[in-house]
Amino acid sequence: MKNYAGPAEIMYHTGLSAGMIRGAKYALLPGDPGRVEGLAKALDRNALFIASHRDYTSWLARIENAPVLVMSTGMGGPCVTFAVEELARLGAETFIRVGTTGSIQEDLHLGDVVINTASVRMDGASRAYAPIEFPAAADMDTVLALREAAEESGIPFKTGISISTDSFWPGQERYDSFGGYVLKRLQGSLEDFQHLGCTNYEMENATLFTLCAVLGLKAASICGVVAKRTDSESVAPHEAYEKAEKRFQKVVKRALEKMISHSRSGENIS
Ligand code: URA
Repeated sequence: MKNYAGPAEIMYHTGLSAGMIRGAKYALLPGDPGRVEGLAKALDRNALFIASHRDYTSWLARIENAPVLVMSTGMGGPCVTFAVEELARLGAETFIRVGTTGSIQEDLHLGDVVINTASVRMDGASRAYAPIEFPAAADMDTVLALREAAEESGIPFKTGISISTDSFWPGQERYDSFGGYVLKRLQGSLEDFQHLGCTNYEMENATLFTLCAVLGLKAASICGVVAKRTDSESVAPHEAYEKAEKRFQKVVKRALEKMISHSRSGENIS
């Protein structure tokens, strides 16, 4: 049995109620609270601020006259669990992470866009929901909507499997941390993931994909490359983000337009 909230019940962590999100079925989830307003206004210049609690800043946009929630999750899997649990109780059904990532393949450059189809579960939070053998797979229809939107918008992109870690430094085999040390079991892990064909490191997909699959919700992810790990451990200056941001905003808007109008006409996106 699903535990939906009453219309006026305020969620403890996100500070939202079903009434505040106006029945939004779609939630876009950037990590950074500072990026919510820009994304919401790129979707709808009349988007409205609705709440800000802890890591969770929320704006409401309208696309095809349907409400779309844009809410930050903060960083990492545990923060994502609060977002999914509380938004699901408010009636949200489709969750799209819109974030940043570090590429590990030579052909993925700064400012490029990656649509992840699945993720390696190097996170801890998803283990509270499903055994590690359970795959962290994105929802196929939502991935296809993003892919078609990118193709139709002429935005170059790659699809692939991300590695979701709980640690930005040793978990992603970075040596430029304060301590400078990576445990032996993680030394060489970046190269292993390259050989396995994985495309990018990030910190939220595995938790988002696993929870949504287990809870009967839909999830997908689109990220902009801000670190090119085949060249450097550093996160690139602002320009890489701005280039990626313009691209994924366009893709996400078009994908939502498609999904909303298809759901109204009762068709399947595929
Ligand atoms: N986010 C990550 O988790 N890793 C990167 O390298 C860049 C963004």
